[in-house]
Amino acid sequence: MNASSTIVNENDAQDSYALTDSRLAARCAETALEAFCDYQARFNAITGRARERFLARDWVGSFNDAAERLHFYNDVLDGLTSRIRKLMGVRLPERTIWTGIKAVYSSLIARSPAWEIAETFFNSLTRRVFATAGVDQAIEFVDTDFDAPPTNAHITVAKAYSGQSLPDLLCAALTDAFDESCWDDLRETANLATARIEAACGAKTSQPKLEIVSSVFYRGRGAYLVGRILCEGQPALPVALCLRHENERGIILDALLHGDVDLALLFSFTRSYFRVAVECPYRLVRYLQHLMPRKRLIDLYNAIGFHRHGKTEFYRDFIAHLRKSSDRFVVAEGARGMVMSVFTLPSYDVVFKLIKDRFDLPKDSTHEDVRRRYRLVFEHDRAGRLVEAHEFEHLGIPGDRFNPELLAELLRDAPSIVKMEGGDVIIAHAYVERRLRPLNLFLRENKPEAIAAAGRDYGQSIKDLAASNIFPGDLLTKNFGVTRHGRVVFYDYDELCFLTDCHFRKLPEARTPEDEIAAEPWFSVGEDDIFNEEFLQFLAFPKPALAALLEHHREIFRADFWRDIQCQIRAGEIPEVFPYRAERRLTGD
Ligand SMILES: Nc1ncnc2c1ncn2[C@@H]1O[C@H](COP(=O)(O)OP(=O)(O)OP(=O)(O)O)[C@@H](O)[C@H]1O
Ligand SMILES: [Mg+2]
Repeated sequence: MNASSTIVNENDAQDSYALTDSRLAARCAETALEAFCDYQARFNAITGRARERFLARDWVGSFNDAAERLHFYNDVLDGLTSRIRKLMGVRLPERTIWTGIKAVYSSLIARSPAWEIAETFFNSLTRRVFATAGVDQAIEFVDTDFDAPPTNAHITVAKAYSGQSLPDLLCAALTDAFDESCWDDLRETANLATARIEAACGAKTSQPKLEIVSSVFYRGRGAYLVGRILCEGQPALPVALCLRHENERGIILDALLHGDVDLALLFSFTRSYFRVAVECPYRLVRYLQHLMPRKRLIDLYNAIGFHRHGKTEFYRDFIAHLRKSSDRFVVAEGARGMVMSVFTLPSYDVVFKLIKDRFDLPKDSTHEDVRRRYRLVFEHDRAGRLVEAHEFEHLGIPGDRFNPELLAELLRDAPSIVKMEGGDVIIAHAYVERRLRPLNLFLRENKPEAIAAAGRDYGQSIKDLAASNIFPGDLLTKNFGVTRHGRVVFYDYDELCFLTDCHFRKLPEARTPEDEIAAEPWFSVGEDDIFNEEFLQFLAFPKPALAALLEHHREIFRADFWRDIQCQIRAGEIPEVFPYRAERRLTGD
């Protein structure tokens, strides 16, 4: 501690003793609430800008907003933590006061429609002040204080439309979101969408009702209306109306998604967060879960931009799962990492990734490099192809839940991160990701048809990443996973970089027969040089996968393909990566 902060603390110490415990607790709780309101106001302001960006086709602004919204949480918390330090002075570590702060804060947020986000905000504060392992319900909202929504406010999430034909209902919802004058050919696409809906329902719609979330979801260059269609005698059909605004002619209804799988792909954990105005996240997330029953709360909170709270939900779920299960953590299946130690609990579908103290050869990056690249992924457009990695600090897990060989391996390979305390394993830092089937295993285990589809999607995955200015670095199959929907996505970030930083080269023609058989390249190779033609020989794809890959994506093995994309990106063009399949588009261009 430096001299000036000592002086501040001494002054504050007098102040904090001048107050009764309950007054001090109340002052701190009010300060925390003010900071939370500040956070909310900034979050809402950025979210609110999404509409203007979409209307003005300001895509750069849209991506910048998305990045900005990820950042200021820490700034607000830094400010709050220093105010609380000042207020409490030497009483900062007194847990009895913190119990009081939590109680007062809990009553202050009871009327907020975003109380669970406010609880997580408070947890972020206490975690900063008490940077210790384990959690303490007395001073943190490990469990929520509210089993049921604490507010009686009647907040409806979706608006219902009925009493008209389906095309009219669609037009009504769409012109509620954007004025009639903003549209290009709305009637025609609404008719096309109706035909799709009727095909999906297998019947003409009778007395249709449309229910649409009152706020528009924005992400990248797209805007989405999300809800469901209810027809007599039919199960509810979840739908998303996908809007694009590519030219001055106006907004178009570009695609109609229907069914929970389509929606799940739109809300995938491999995509960046939506910006959507929301008064009561609790209700919106539950409504979305209705539409996509297999999605977990954590993914839905993340999808609407509350990733901190997503972590709280994850932690609660994880602890509850540990209590009701008895299996042991084991090394994740697949090729061992040279940089990461990766383990999993068989009964729970996530992996924990720890940065090893020393990397196996030939890896020569540093811890900070690895963290920087994981941060880059967090902040960048993930384009449906990069798995979300949540950072956790000070995780405590009972030691007897670890397979002994795994525990020995972790203590050996990551001693600066993994410690034993009492009977618990304390993990100072981990990335937690959804567990996927590693592509190398998938290709070994599946039938030719599935393998061919994975081979093709592997190529598409690399192209989608390229379009979002990402080069994965290590293209081996062990670094890709297959989702439950059969999508091939990337999870090994330690060599990932911006495409525009790479130097794609054609292999020079050999000058002599000796050149041709030389073990080492006979030409000079720069650090950022990439020879795509060589990728093929490292891939070791089984035949059906290789055939499908070459049939659809042969160009990824040519340097000029990559250079063309680099030119586009450098020219400020942002290539489109649609979060839906081409056959869902209505206009087909
Ligand atoms: N999300 C995931 N789901 C399932 N398995 C995973 C996941 N992430 C990693 N793994 C498994 O852990 C292994 C190591 O992970 P990862 O590739 O991220 O580490 P690495 O040390 O960077 O690897 P490399 O040595 O290829 O650089 C993978 O090969 C895979 O088998
Ligand atoms: Mg790897």
